[in-house]
Amino acid sequence: MDKVKICIVGAGRAGEVHGDVYFNYIPHSEIVSIFDIDIEKAKNLASKYMLNEKYVFDRYEDALSYCEFDAAIITTPTFTHCLYTEMSAKKKAHVFCEKPMAITPEDCDKMMEACSKEKVKLQLGFMRRFDAGFQKAKQIIESEEIGKLVVIKSVGRGPGLPGKWAFDIKNSNGNLAEVNSHDFDSIRWLSGSEYKKVYAVAKNSKNPDIGRLYPEFYDNAVVSITMKNGIFGLIDSVCPCEYGYDARVEVVGTRGVLFIGSINEHTTITCTREKGINSPQILSWKRRFYDAYIAEDRHFIDCIINENEPIITGNDGKHAVNIVIAANKSISLGRPIEL
Ligand SMILES: NC(=O)c1ccc[n+]([C@@H]2O[C@H](COP(=O)([O-])OP(=O)(O)OC[C@H]3O[C@@H](n4cnc5c(N)ncnc54)[C@H](O)[C@@H]3O)[C@@H](O)[C@H]2O)c1
Repeated sequence: MDKVKICIVGAGRAGEVHGDVYFNYIPHSEIVSIFDIDIEKAKNLASKYMLNEKYVFDRYEDALSYCEFDAAIITTPTFTHCLYTEMSAKKKAHVFCEKPMAITPEDCDKMMEACSKEKVKLQLGFMRRFDAGFQKAKQIIESEEIGKLVVIKSVGRGPGLPGKWAFDIKNSNGNLAEVNSHDFDSIRWLSGSEYKKVYAVAKNSKNPDIGRLYPEFYDNAVVSITMKNGIFGLIDSVCPCEYGYDARVEVVGTRGVLFIGSINEHTTITCTREKGINSPQILSWKRRFYDAYIAEDRHFIDCIINENEPIITGNDGKHAVNIVIAANKSISLGRPIEL
């Protein structure tokens, strides 16, 4: 296979990030179709990639019937991931699915079963694992340079609220899923262990209008986790975060500490007597992790061409879904939850 033909399933924020990456950076891929229930969004995205409107669809059945593609890039709202994965797999299309994998672990199982039955790849969108800083940290941890791990603290603060569909926790599992699935996955990956216990608190700090419609909605949460190997995890979740996009991790070991990420956009700092020290902050997740999105998309295409298994699996996605559900249960019951 020279070029992997892909269909972008969902022309929103994540669909555009992946579309741009495939169009500009992955020469062994070709966008041959775009599907979104909002046809205008799909058409707008298609025009960016010079894709003829006859390959744009507002029903996925039509995209699958009238277009031939090897892979689906699923970037629709979370509650649709299971359906579109199953439909893609049935047509022998490999699946890249954005996080969170699904709303329930049962749906994650269905997705894995569908892909395994049809012998197609399934890769989950935990792009942080492809970020140079996160990869370096993993190496340092494995070398035991900072000793045995004690605490992994992950700051996950998103600049803007996700789409309205995510306000209802039943459609999204809330901000802990939408914003912090990445933090949960990082803690599991860096600790090299599985979740044992979680205690979470959350509140709606600044969105009373949303709270009136969706009483379970929260925009601030703090999560404490115990891993099976005894390492502690801490997540601090803020969304919307007024000052920008803030994704940093601090790993404390018995002999040292390591820090991943920064809130600075770049290393240029100005200092004047009048204005003090100044350096612009990171404003967007798209910019912070752009290289990681390129690397994860390249990995997906390489796995298809070379017939390798993706390093981030459905099982990784399911673990993140399970811990988010347990954390939400902890919030509603006000007590720790064992997994
Ligand atoms: N990895 C990351 O960093 C990252 C970043 C952003 C979003 N995401 C994930 O991507 C997914 C989409 O998020 P988003 O922020 O792009 O959302 P979005 O609201 O910007 O876009 C969703 C798109 O899906 C379309 N849509 C809605 N319901 C649909 C349906 N039933 N069938 C087909 N299309 C439908 C909408 O019209 C919209 O164009 C979510 O699961 C989200 O968590 C991941």
